[in-house]
Amino acid sequence: MANVLVVHGPNLNLLGMREPQLYGNHTLEQINEMMSQEAEGLNIELRFVQSNHEGALIDAIHEAIDWADAIIINPAAYTHTSVALRDAIASVRLPTIEVHLSNIASREEFRERSVTARVCVGQISGFQAYSYVLAVRAVYHLLAQGPQ
Ligand code: DQA
Repeated sequence: MANVLVVHGPNLNLLGMREPQLYGNHTLEQINEMMSQEAEGLNIELRFVQSNHEGALIDAIHEAIDWADAIIINPAAYTHTSVALRDAIASVRLPTIEVHLSNIASREEFRERSVTARVCVGQISGFQAYSYVLAVRAVYHLLAQGPQ
């Protein structure tokens, strides 16, 4: 059994009603459920956290040191700005996968750069809710490979 922390950043609590043309119609609760279903068949236990506050996201990442084998994170807008979140991910040294609902490479120029992706194993972007399901499969693949 592997343990994975799933971190949802700011404004993702509004999924479902928030710019559905970009982010799709699924609520965060539905996305978490989709992930849990995928994880169950792969013997992965997920714990979820969502916050609109940078410090709370950082605290959750620090606390993961004690129990998690990997992290899946959508840092949302902090993706493009947060050196503190980037440093938290680098500090805990847990393999981390970055997820985005929208294709950040095809949007405004300021979204093209991810500060956090540089310390992640990889990034999945552009498949709306399904990006998260892919991330569960990716984390399974990563952990099955063992320490790199
Ligand atoms: C997002 C993309 C970010 O640029 C944006 O600020 C978000 C959501 C995504 O999942 O597509 O809040 O991370």
